[in-house]
Amino acid sequence: MPTPFDLTGKTAVVTGSSRGIGRAIAETLALMGARVVVSSRKSEACELVAAGIRERGGEAIVIPCNISRKDEVEALVAGARARLGSIDILVCNAAVNPVFGPMASLADEAFDKIMGANVKSALWLCNLAIPDMAARGGGSVIIVSSIAGLRGTEMIGGYGISKAALFALARNLAVEWGPKNVRVNCIAPGLIRTDFARALWEDEARLEKRTAATPLRRIGQPEEIGAIAAFLASPAASFITGQMIVADGGVTIA
Ligand SMILES: NC(=O)c1ccc[n+]([C@@H]2O[C@H](COP(=O)([O-])OP(=O)(O)OC[C@H]3O[C@@H](n4cnc5c(N)ncnc54)[C@H](OP(=O)(O)O)[C@@H]3O)[C@@H](O)[C@H]2O)c1
Repeated sequence: MPTPFDLTGKTAVVTGSSRGIGRAIAETLALMGARVVVSSRKSEACELVAAGIRERGGEAIVIPCNISRKDEVEALVAGARARLGSIDILVCNAAVNPVFGPMASLADEAFDKIMGANVKSALWLCNLAIPDMAARGGGSVIIVSSIAGLRGTEMIGGYGISKAALFALARNLAVEWGPKNVRVNCIAPGLIRTDFARALWEDEARLEKRTAATPLRRIGQPEEIGAIAAFLASPAASFITGQMIVADGGVTIA
């Protein structure tokens, strides 16, 4: 008997899945039975992840894509359909954060780059993938946001604005596509041990301060976000849409 978490027969596209959270998401979706498109800017790194999935009995292919380039985003969606037949699960995970500093010194170019890569690109992906999901009876879109979209910060304000916008994007798309059984949800991770956040956990003193302020007294692992994405993609989450699941060890409620 299939469990409500079973993804057998489903196909998934995961942006930024050569490492970190995206990799864990791709691996967990594959573990639950989905055929997965592993994607990032660097195809060799993606090939290693796809090979690992195949070694464990899963199915994975690679389509490289820089999410900031519309032609590459279009080619990702078209390539996934051509090679796997359909897209049932879309995970908008890749994001950029090129600047650290106060809002007062955030240059227009940096702001545009952040909003383009983190927000506009998610809208491109959704608009390209969702109509076909709808026509085929439904699907699940998962957008990786951040608790930086829920709180004010002194150093990553532009990034926080982009992550807050993703909550609104998910709600709008959930309303627009709910009648066609396409669900759209966000995950808002706290600090997770990946390259992206290395500056925040590599420094011992900083890590200790963060850990002390976290009810679970630790930072997160990529696999802990992978499991949430698999849940949101699965029939177990069939009545959840337009939501945001915070996974931060309790930081934002303490
Ligand atoms: N780590 C955290 O603490 C944390 C907390 C909250 C939210 N998040 C969010 O989680 C998501 C993943 O972050 P992560 O921590 O897993 O980062 P990561 O370990 O640095 O991995 C980033 C992934 O995205 C790819 N990537 C980077 N720029 C890209 C681009 N322009 N186009 C396509 N792919 C690109 C990278 O591969 P290539 O270099 O090969 O392109 C890599 O596969 C992001 O949305 C981030 O905002 C992270």
